[in-house]
Amino acid sequence: MDEEILFQITRDHLESGLRGMPVGYCVTSFVDPEKGIFYVDHPISQVANWEPERVIYLLFSGKEGSAQEVEDFAAELKRRSPLHPGAVEQIRKLPKFGKPMDLFSSAILISAMFEESWDYREDCLNLIAKIPQIAAAVINHHAGWKGDFISRPELGYMENFAQMLNLPQGRSEDLAAVLKLFNVVHYDHGGGNLSTFVGKAVASGLEGMYGSISAAMNALAGPRHGWANQGALALVKEVREKLGEQPDIGELKEYIQKKLDQRELIFGFGHAVLRVEDPRGTIFYDYGEKNFKDSSLVKVALLLRTVVPEVLKKNGRVADPYPNVDAISGTVLSAAGFPYPEYYTVLFGMSRIVGIAIQIVYERLEARGGKGTPLIRPKYLFRTRF
Ligand code: MLT
Repeated sequence: MDEEILFQITRDHLESGLRGMPVGYCVTSFVDPEKGIFYVDHPISQVANWEPERVIYLLFSGKEGSAQEVEDFAAELKRRSPLHPGAVEQIRKLPKFGKPMDLFSSAILISAMFEESWDYREDCLNLIAKIPQIAAAVINHHAGWKGDFISRPELGYMENFAQMLNLPQGRSEDLAAVLKLFNVVHYDHGGGNLSTFVGKAVASGLEGMYGSISAAMNALAGPRHGWANQGALALVKEVREKLGEQPDIGELKEYIQKKLDQRELIFGFGHAVLRVEDPRGTIFYDYGEKNFKDSSLVKVALLLRTVVPEVLKKNGRVADPYPNVDAISGTVLSAAGFPYPEYYTVLFGMSRIVGIAIQIVYERLEARGGKGTPLIRPKYLFRTRF
């Protein structure tokens, strides 16, 4: 018995989105409000430039792999990567007028019909291995980028994804590197972010890995969660269009203030847990400054990085006015030759699936001495509405 009191619930906590309430253990990562995300015991800045397979091994095994272990693991992912041709065929029949995230979560369910083994650990590794192909099939199909695409896992996890995109303008030299960075920094963000929580909640009913992940992707799709990177790039473009490539700081402050007065959301700023600039954001700002300093979008995003927190602070949003990764990641993707914001949440989703799937393995197969966590079933208090 461990009866240590971790948290006390008062009526004020009701209808507050479970904010801050401990509900379980997360074995893959934790978010420190001042230092950002740690993958196992590594701050994100330490692993951001590792190869994806090495980072996935760290999250999956809970420890850093030796060179040999990572090499074997990468070979294992390659072996598992081919997606059933029947799944690809069905994905190509999905309605193109649907939202990309609707196609993506449907594509995961379609893949389940061809691939699911109903073994959480197997399906975790299979889905991680196959998700680049699923995402590429969805994006190529939805965007109408014609042509066959052949998976070439020998190129590496994200290099393969980049080469499967049938981009009409071809692939820039920077694209694979930026996609890789984006992918790695989005794998996991503790246990309580909405998509992860939803994926684990659905799996607690003993739904399989693919169905649980598909549900998680629907949770990710909303503007308050995974869509925010798209919204943040829209703000950068809007500022460039309305105030020019080198906006006057005073005018920019007024512009942001007006948005706040009109109760508009400022995407990319503030975070549920973080109380500093998101270290994933810092990595992307540094990357943008180093590699795309002449891009007008990057210049505007860098101005917003300092101006928006000042305006938010003036408006009393002192606890958390800082940029998160969404404030800059879309701008850098755009500058790197992927100027298609409607697919940014799909890119986020294909990354976050890694963490969610591994957390589901823990909850289903390892938690409570192997019994697994029980069915999620919180309590709501009855009240009359009027
Ligand atoms: C993130 O990556 O920042 C999240 O998924 C949002 C969160 O942690 O709540």
